[in-house]
Amino acid sequence: FESTVPGELGDPSVRAAEVPEPGAVTLVVPTFNESGNVRELLRRITDSVPARLPCEVVFVDDSTDDTPQVIAEAAQDCPFPVSVLHRAEPAGGLGGAVVEGLRAATSDWVVVMDGDLQHPPSLVPELVATGERTGAELVVASRYIAGGSRAGLAGGYRVAVSRGATWLAKSLFPRALRGISDPMSGFFAVRRGAVAAEVLQPLGYKILLELAVRCRPRRVAEVPFVFQDRFAGESKSTAREGLRFLRHLAGLRTASPLARMTGFGLIGASGFLPNLLGLYVLTGLGLHYVPAEILANQLGVAWNFLLVEQLLFRDRRRHRRWWDRAGRFALLANADLVLRIPLIALFVGRLGMGALSATALALVVTFVLRFAGTEALVYLP
Ligand code: GDD
Ligand code: MN
Repeated sequence: FESTVPGELGDPSVRAAEVPEPGAVTLVVPTFNESGNVRELLRRITDSVPARLPCEVVFVDDSTDDTPQVIAEAAQDCPFPVSVLHRAEPAGGLGGAVVEGLRAATSDWVVVMDGDLQHPPSLVPELVATGERTGAELVVASRYIAGGSRAGLAGGYRVAVSRGATWLAKSLFPRALRGISDPMSGFFAVRRGAVAAEVLQPLGYKILLELAVRCRPRRVAEVPFVFQDRFAGESKSTAREGLRFLRHLAGLRTASPLARMTGFGLIGASGFLPNLLGLYVLTGLGLHYVPAEILANQLGVAWNFLLVEQLLFRDRRRHRRWWDRAGRFALLANADLVLRIPLIALFVGRLGMGALSATALALVVTFVLRFAGTEALVYLP
């Protein structure tokens, strides 16, 4: 048994003696307070994996309980190497932990699985064998193909959420998720060579989604599995994790500048809603429509700012304080309005355009300028 800190684990001099043979598998198991599960997990892995496949197990642990100690004890009975990477700083949550494990893995194949026995270890050899047989770089254990089921997803509410999340992800990434019926699964095998850990930016639970979208494995296969009940303890997922998932989706979807600009446009369009609502309320209160519109417009700007911050530039907020960003953002938004009229006049007067096409062009120009300005003046250092 070895307990290591990040960095040591990847050091070949430490690990050379234990590097598994070709075709072997590294099981990466993220754990957060799973002391009641890890012993049974290692027992079931022992029962079903080493006889068919050389293996090692890497736990990536963010626990505040005695999970690492329980693993250390249980590891003494295991006929394969077991290590625990305890993270001092649990960045990226579950997904961040898995990426840390992918970095530390030494085998040709990596299988990612939960530590609470909802993912049956007996399926591990079949996941790898399917990859070897089909030449796939990624093999997903799916609840949504014939022979699979989500028995362990307690309650209609969780089933509905899981269904909705799957649908949303598949509609946002039709190409990257082609052939993956269960992109929310946390149980999969991947060839280590297909993983470029440095491009991954994990955020929360959906590490398979992250991997499929950013690494684009060349061929994908699926194996059905029955999502079991938890062995002990409770799920670590919370409502906050749901919000994190939406941010994760937005981050993945807006990785390119063009996609980011589209997102910026959609958020801008959604700003009409609070704008109109504000106008309705303020004029209802007896305010003249001109000041009412000016105020209501600021409401739209605030709405846009919040969404842009949360969904588009979340990772680029550190360069300025929030009130500095808000001020610059509002300035750009209002400059947009002020710039539009002279621009239309210019297009009509100088270029001889019709009023309608001049307005359309001015809208496009100010939009692109505002987007570029927001990138450069609000979110760059
Ligand atoms: N290191 C680390 N850090 N591990 C974590 C963290 C974290 O912040 N959060 C959770 N884990 C570990 C848990 O200890 C467990 O071993 C595994 O990740 C899954 O966590 P659960 O809390 O049991 O997740 P779940 O059962 O609600 O969700 C599972 O099923 C979903 C499908 O319905 C996960 O596999 C999801 O990825 C999957 O989408
Ligand atoms: Mn679970």
